[in-house]
Amino acid sequence: MSAELPDVRQTRLDNYVDRYAARTKGMTASEIRALFAVASRPEVVSLAGGMPNIGGLPLDVVGGAVRDLVIDHGSVAMQYGSGQGDPTLRNQICDVMRLEGIDAHPDDVVVTVGSQQAVDLVTRVFCDPGDVVICEAPSYVGALGVFRAYQCEVVHVAMDDDGVQPEALEQAIAAVRAAGKKIKFFYTIPNFHNPAGVSLSAERRRRVLEICQQADLLILEDNPYGLLGFDGEPQRALRADDREGVIYLGSFSKTFAPGFRVGWAVAPHAVREKLVLAQESATLCPPVFSQLAISSYLSRHDWLGQVKQFQEMYRERRDAMLAALADKMPAATTWTRPGGGFYVWLTLPDGLDAKAMLPRAVTARVAYVPGTAFFSDGFGSQCMRLSYCHPTPERITEGVARLAAVIHEELELRQTFGPLKPGSGRDYDAPGPELS
Ligand SMILES: Cc1ncc(COP(=O)(O)O)c(C=O)c1O
Repeated sequence: MSAELPDVRQTRLDNYVDRYAARTKGMTASEIRALFAVASRPEVVSLAGGMPNIGGLPLDVVGGAVRDLVIDHGSVAMQYGSGQGDPTLRNQICDVMRLEGIDAHPDDVVVTVGSQQAVDLVTRVFCDPGDVVICEAPSYVGALGVFRAYQCEVVHVAMDDDGVQPEALEQAIAAVRAAGKKIKFFYTIPNFHNPAGVSLSAERRRRVLEICQQADLLILEDNPYGLLGFDGEPQRALRADDREGVIYLGSFSKTFAPGFRVGWAVAPHAVREKLVLAQESATLCPPVFSQLAISSYLSRHDWLGQVKQFQEMYRERRDAMLAALADKMPAATTWTRPGGGFYVWLTLPDGLDAKAMLPRAVTARVAYVPGTAFFSDGFGSQCMRLSYCHPTPERITEGVARLAAVIHEELELRQTFGPLKPGSGRDYDAPGPELS
């Protein structure tokens, strides 16, 4: 490079920008990731992250299982394995799913690197650029990221306290098809929804299955929280009543530990074959060491007893959050009341914007995730996700008090200067009840 000509490599932030595939445009850091740095400072009460609280795990039992695995079965555990996953673990996964009414054969199961990879593999197998995926409004940020990366168009469908609204789902399917577009599947989180905190009622489960069967539309049922309910037995999975029309995803991340990165998909036979091929091209095989460690934990430990302990711990935290919200939040603020899982979805009074308010909240030492992270189209600015899974009940109470003070101040500001955007992001797909 001559001394006179400027070296473009030194004047650009990213020298490779002209060379990336078109799909990388859809790959952006999630709003949650951008928050991690500030939210993890000790003085900030983070109601933002959705990390499971694994402090109560029996580390001596896990440590013993891992040690024995290396010493007694190291030559298998540290070797490549099957693309579909370890047969013993797949058998145990069928026992886990029986708790939700699913009768599956180990051959139907594909082990994945967390259920996140299962979302990716299903999308890779089904979706071409421009295909439509129907999602709830709001929806899981990690799945939206996958759909964007594969250049899918996301169409959101309104929810209320009983989960997705069947009429809105029917209308969305008809409208997308009338526009000449292909819908590849309906992605749903029926239990203790991330981020909405609501569950699909038994009556609506029947309706949703009927609608999708009539429309010949696949359902992608993502269920990492189903066993973490606070009252009664787990709900019956959609897959329990339709083995051909539903692809079911499960995970050990919330009932055991996310660090092993083990989840799974259960799919109709032909789809399962494609998922195994996609898995082999992505990773050759899911990690054998993790699978055998989990298999050993399940067979040597009272894992369901551990799940019950998790339920109690999360229930105490949920109670602390709901009590603090009722005590401190200004009128016209509404929120969901989860029966399990990790999340509350809060809607601010009209005229407030959760994203614009975030820097002031962080200055007041509390963090949350603005609702816009959970929509593909900019909606949700009046909403936020609050997680109660990780902080102690005392910290949750303190965090909600700090947040309520920020909202009160914001309301006063808006009363003086007027709203930023009146009613922004509250109603999706109106008419229909909002999340309250
Ligand atoms: C709805 C939902 N699906 C999938 C995942 C991914 O879980 P994992 O890959 O750890 O199994 C999460 C994690 O938070 C989630 O909330």
